[in-house]
Amino acid sequence: MNYKTIEWKNDGVRILDQRRLPGQVRYLDCKDALSVAKAIKTMAIRGAPAIGVAAAMGIALAGKKIRTHRQESFRREMEKVCTRMGQTRPTAVNLFWAINRMRRILEQVNRYGVEETRRRLVKEALLIHKEDIEVNKKIGEYGKRLIRNGARILTHCNAGALATAGYGTALGVLYAAWAEGKRFHVYADETRPMLQGARLTAWELTQANIPVTVLSDNMSGWLMKHGRIDLVIVGADRIAKNGDVANKIGTYSLATLANHHHIPFYVAAPVSTIDFQLVSGERIPIEERNVREVTHITGKRITPKGIKVFNPAFDVTPHSLITGIITEKGILRKPFKKAIHRCRVNTVVK
Ligand code: MRU
Repeated sequence: MNYKTIEWKNDGVRILDQRRLPGQVRYLDCKDALSVAKAIKTMAIRGAPAIGVAAAMGIALAGKKIRTHRQESFRREMEKVCTRMGQTRPTAVNLFWAINRMRRILEQVNRYGVEETRRRLVKEALLIHKEDIEVNKKIGEYGKRLIRNGARILTHCNAGALATAGYGTALGVLYAAWAEGKRFHVYADETRPMLQGARLTAWELTQANIPVTVLSDNMSGWLMKHGRIDLVIVGADRIAKNGDVANKIGTYSLATLANHHHIPFYVAAPVSTIDFQLVSGERIPIEERNVREVTHITGKRITPKGIKVFNPAFDVTPHSLITGIITEKGILRKPFKKAIHRCRVNTVVK
């Protein structure tokens, strides 16, 4: 990739500002935890694994800035930062997973002291970043076997390098297949209201020279009916223990359509996206975002003033509609409950 989604640079967090893509490639230099939290909330950085990495780096940054040398007050101040990070976006579990990893470092402040804990926090955040890329590449290795030469693949939202530390889950599978010499065509749903497909997936696949056609969200059913889609691959924000998947709003409709047309529907996600506390997708918190995302496009109002608007950012696809879940431990198949349990305890599923 000739761009970096997020990096630790000069004791700050450098974030590729995705709100400006594809028109401008601009970086945000966050010098404190609050500006990282704001970047997550306003979607300068987005995508489940990427916001986990950003939160971890933001917490590490706070560790460097908090002046006290007293262990208890350091821990107290840092806990406030962790809570603040957790309030940015509620659905993607990777955010809480990453914050909890940072909390585990903080819990050891009495053993290591404040100075060493500051260093350990930075080390942990960098490790989360590095591991995410490695994990994505493994997902790509397992998933690439599903991609046939000449396939027409549909994806929704953006689950690529921009949504992770730098390779991608759903798009990572495509990068791995492409690197192996397979040739295929990608259809990217535009993904209203924030247009992650039209702006981000189209941009990053073009950077990689992978052919892509953008569709508006209501077109995929028609293409499926005419036999023009062979496979659907999407990412995930939270996966319950039974395999129900929360992902970008519109994923459920897509899965229903794919099922109706007997088209395989795959989810690609790291194990860190599985919420082992949740029995089913029913209790997954669904973020509702500002109605302006729906009423306006690029700053211009498209609806009558004062109109009622509903803007859930995610939906939940029941496991019955999913063909397989591609993880770094292998491709999980039905019954997902069993496969997910095995994947928690074992290193490799298949
Ligand atoms: O609101 P977003 O852009 O953060 O939503 C992103 C998605 O829904 C992605 O599909 C998901 O986070 C997986 S990213 C590898």
